Amino acid sequence: MLHTQIQITLRAAIREIAPGLDTGSIQVRPATDPKFGDYQCNSLIQLARELKKNPRQLATEVLARSDFSDVFESPEIAGPGYLNFRLLPATLARVLTTAAAGNHLFFTPTETPRTLVIDYSSPNVAKPMHVGHIRSTILGASLARIFELLGHRVITDNHIGDWGTQFGMLLVGWKTSLNREALLQDPLSEMERIYKLINAQSDPERPGFIEGTREQARAELVALQAGDPENLAIWKEMIALSQRQFDTIYGRLGVRFDHVLGESFYNPWLQATVDDLVKRGVARESQGAWAIFSDGTLPPKDDPFLTQRDGEWHPNPFLIQKADGGFNYASTDLATAQYRIETWAPTDIVYVTDGRQQLHFQQLFASFARWKPEAAATVRMHHIWFGSILGEDGKPLKTRSGENIRLSELLDEAEERALKVVTEKRPDLDDAARREIARMVGLGAVKWQDLLPNRQSDYVFSWDKMLALTGNTAPYVQYQSTRAGKVVRDAGETNLVVAPGSLTESAELALARHLLYFGTTLEGAVAEFRPNYLCNYLFELASLYSRFYEQCPVLKAEEPIRSARLCLCVLTTRVLRQGLSLLGIEAPEVM
Ligand code: ARG
Repeated sequence: MLHTQIQITLRAAIREIAPGLDTGSIQVRPATDPKFGDYQCNSLIQLARELKKNPRQLATEVLARSDFSDVFESPEIAGPGYLNFRLLPATLARVLTTAAAGNHLFFTPTETPRTLVIDYSSPNVAKPMHVGHIRSTILGASLARIFELLGHRVITDNHIGDWGTQFGMLLVGWKTSLNREALLQDPLSEMERIYKLINAQSDPERPGFIEGTREQARAELVALQAGDPENLAIWKEMIALSQRQFDTIYGRLGVRFDHVLGESFYNPWLQATVDDLVKRGVARESQGAWAIFSDGTLPPKDDPFLTQRDGEWHPNPFLIQKADGGFNYASTDLATAQYRIETWAPTDIVYVTDGRQQLHFQQLFASFARWKPEAAATVRMHHIWFGSILGEDGKPLKTRSGENIRLSELLDEAEERALKVVTEKRPDLDDAARREIARMVGLGAVKWQDLLPNRQSDYVFSWDKMLALTGNTAPYVQYQSTRAGKVVRDAGETNLVVAPGSLTESAELALARHLLYFGTTLEGAVAEFRPNYLCNYLFELASLYSRFYEQCPVLKAEEPIRSARLCLCVLTTRVLRQGLSLLGIEAPEVM
């Protein structure tokens, strides 16, 4: 694409000026303001500092060794040494025409494909998936799709929590208090009920306390982990029932995984993992348990194994085996990282979870690097974390009675509310058609609302905002894509050409320029693991299309303008659809 072409030319010129220099930092980006042209490069300033040169002087030298004459107007040096590039009308026409012919869609697959393991969704078994799991699921699935489209190899892995301490309680509940009938009706509610019941019975502070329940739960867990056949059979049934519910939700959300290797999968390696960590001197005994402590190589403020209290630094160990011999989340994650590296030789492992797990992942990454330095050097590990979903009261989103909101119920409500909106707008459509549109709009609205904020911020969940037909929402973007799609259907042509110079109106040019930025947007989104860049791009594209649609008649225009404008409609439809589908959002034909 054009920005890559400029980048390549500039880098080659710089290598002539300073042979051997790493030119990876030279980046070309869309211009922040059209008055500066279409693309800009601000990287020479930093480079000039490194080379101890005057930046404008460096810019002049670089341009003297670059030839952009067939593609851009002669580049301009602005301010302290920025380069501005403006497309020749013929270039714009050529890029749009080749895109309309289906040769590209404003992005090029990467020349340096990576292999990424993306660990996302990862709910805990025997508990209903609640609204908190939606961010990991939606964010992870979107990132996986964008990386894949750009030509990277992506392996998705759902690291379900199927081996945790909750099974001690669940096993006691299953054996003493299970209501089979209720289990058939709604397995997860029943499992949740028995879990809560036994939890209350184990707690001396609670009214339902029964002496000895906690010990019983621990004994059941130990028996399960030692392979007791009865407990294993019950455990398997719980997993199967949960998996069915997860699959229903994933089906609705349009999400799939290459692997579902839950925590239990790693059980056979946990003892060996801990033993090896001890043998290599990474972990040590502490009060009967085993843990990883600071090795003192990092300044305390960057050391995840230290914590500050009362102005002093205290050990903050990474516990990997409890005093009762039980393994945990940490030992499992160490074995998991090792398995993934051995199995898939990834360049990156990406963990998409809640921000509250930041310390866990800092300790995990540091521990792994000390345990397997050679393996760790081959892979980058990323904790891609996100904030909470808040209710209108600013507290974590709950039902009125203070329960977690079930994901399935939330999705039902989204579809119902969307149906009301669609029914109001389109009473002429039949019921089945309205329901299908409402499904796409309702689910799309939930996903968009979740993806749009910076992922590290909390956001307030609002039905009214997410379903609004104006503003930065899925329904708005979906609606603009139906408008563009309709023009294309009405025209019925396939052979589209943009003649050089045929686009002159500012609404046309702004739309055309923005189409060209699709590729840079995708690259930016993967570089920082931020699908919100794509949301904002698509919203801008939808808004620019709307302005164009209002100001520039398409089918009634004279040639060659008609053909050029039609091209813009075709390409807007394609980019909006492609972009939405990367976010897991369907685009209705009408709405
Ligand atoms: N099951 C965990 C939870 O619900 C998330 C697991 C994330 N993946 C991992 N490898 N730790 O919080």
